[in-house]
Amino acid sequence: MAGLIPRNFIDDLLNRIDIVEVIDSRVPLKKKGREFWACCPFHGEKSPSFSVSPGKQFYHCFGCQKSGNAVGFLMDYDHMEFVEAIESLAATLGMDVPYEQGSAPAKPAQQTLEPMFQVMEKCTDFYQEQLKQSQVAIDYLKNRGISGQTAKTFGIGYAPPGWNNLAGDEKMLVDSGMLIKKDDGKQYDRFRHRLMFPIRDRRGRCIAFGGRVINPEDNPKYLNSPESPLFHKSDEIYGLYELKKAVTNIDRVYITEGYMDVVALAEHGVKTAVATLGTAINNRQIESLFRVCKNLVFCFDGDAAGKKAAWRSLEQCLPSLKEGRLARFLFLPEGQDPDSYISEFGQADFEQQVEQASTLTQYLFQNLLIECNINTLEGRAQFLDRLRPYFGQIPLQSLKDQILGEVEQRLGQKIDGRMLRLLGADKPEKPDRTRLPEQHWTPTRLAINLLLKKPALANSTGTHHELADSSIPGVDLLLKILDRIHDEPEISTQNLLDRFRGDAHESHLYKLAMMEPPVENDESLDRMFADCLQSLQKQYIDHRQKLLITKLQSGAGLTEAEKFEHKKLFTNQPKASS
Ligand code: UTP
Ligand code: MN
Repeated sequence: MAGLIPRNFIDDLLNRIDIVEVIDSRVPLKKKGREFWACCPFHGEKSPSFSVSPGKQFYHCFGCQKSGNAVGFLMDYDHMEFVEAIESLAATLGMDVPYEQGSAPAKPAQQTLEPMFQVMEKCTDFYQEQLKQSQVAIDYLKNRGISGQTAKTFGIGYAPPGWNNLAGDEKMLVDSGMLIKKDDGKQYDRFRHRLMFPIRDRRGRCIAFGGRVINPEDNPKYLNSPESPLFHKSDEIYGLYELKKAVTNIDRVYITEGYMDVVALAEHGVKTAVATLGTAINNRQIESLFRVCKNLVFCFDGDAAGKKAAWRSLEQCLPSLKEGRLARFLFLPEGQDPDSYISEFGQADFEQQVEQASTLTQYLFQNLLIECNINTLEGRAQFLDRLRPYFGQIPLQSLKDQILGEVEQRLGQKIDGRMLRLLGADKPEKPDRTRLPEQHWTPTRLAINLLLKKPALANSTGTHHELADSSIPGVDLLLKILDRIHDEPEISTQNLLDRFRGDAHESHLYKLAMMEPPVENDESLDRMFADCLQSLQKQYIDHRQKLLITKLQSGAGLTEAEKFEHKKLFTNQPKASS
């Protein structure tokens, strides 16, 4: 666990390790300019947009926006736990990881998780045993058309009513989310009187559960295990283990939205369905599915929520469309999901529907054309403009050509230079992306970038907390960084970035750190930083002045504090805060 390794050890490690070596031994890098580049290992692409900065010691992908330091890279790339990543980096430097008093998880994290896996397995066995003994649960499954065989394949079980049915290592049960601990220290079972769907990892180990109510009055309808050391919801795919086990020649994978969709499809002979766990699918999940099978069929309800989910899936799909990969989109009639559809009409009819599903290109055009009147010149330009960001993400030239062909057909006009410009496709066929992308500087961004370059800049200036009231975008983050450096005036760039590990702003911060300000020497850094702050200060004063004037003009009186501020703002010239 993170807190057990002393902070200063992690800082020291990050200052000594070379991220270029760490990554290069796993993903070969090429030097170009100041940075090192490769095709991103986290999303599919043909030209490199994954950069590693030896100066700043972090990586950033301009395609999928993933970024982090050496520790983060090992966690993502080698699927290590935090402690494991630290241990592994320390080992390469011949350093011993010290653990704070009273804790010594010196073993690799994988081993320390073993007891929790065992607890989860015991729970699975218990629930399956309970299912056999519960007529209510058996009847429920029967009514939904699920056979004993299918229930067994998916390890479906039943959590009986009552608050204290689970037995075993209590800490493990709490940490894995099976028990809920109340403030008074008492514990009770999270899942009661529910049909239980074990969620298994790629190796078939149970890492979490989804529990469906049996009594329709109970809610929520589905209760899922919380995030735990074993379970990271947005990484998992329900049914993937069962699919791989059941089918060797996988010619198509269906992506659905629910546990019951997967189970019912399997019951009716469609054994290659999976589901996300109540969250929107992301590119990592799509990548791993494409690695299993090149032919994906996304299945959605025909309602508004289904359409929204479908579009989001398309967006997440685009960067992964390499050679031979196909994605299609199936919209079921309103009110139907794959479970209800196949239960009513059967396997043949369902597969017939799939034959008629939209291709990605069809769906892309269909959706973008909504509200564009392509009979007018403006409408056409608007359409191409809408298409541009999607078009730009496609890594495969042949698919791009296919889309250009479709554009010609839909607009009834040959592609010309102007159209290509509108699509952002007027550049060479294979753009060299090993350049830093266009940078849009604002005073806030530049100030943050400079602070990340040279944290000591903060020590020449005050806290600037007043800027928090300025509604300047991004200024909150700037203030947070200033505070951080004021707390630790000697902090290095790596360590400063690491303080934001897991923060909502983390990836944004890496992106800003990646930008290159037009400076040559150390002195100009100081001057630019001072200029940024002055400009922010001015924006802040303008903003407050306008606000107070509007308030006065509206007839609303000023509070005492505002009167004071008004006087100050309108008599004093803008001056840098201390
Ligand atoms: P649905 O409400 O579409 O459920 O939720 P479903 O699959 O059709 O289930 P049945 O047929 O009513 O049994 C789809 C998925 O969304 C998540 C679950 O993962 C579910 O499988 N969900 C739904 C929740 O997490 N909580 C809820 O309360 C509802
Ligand atoms: Mn359903």
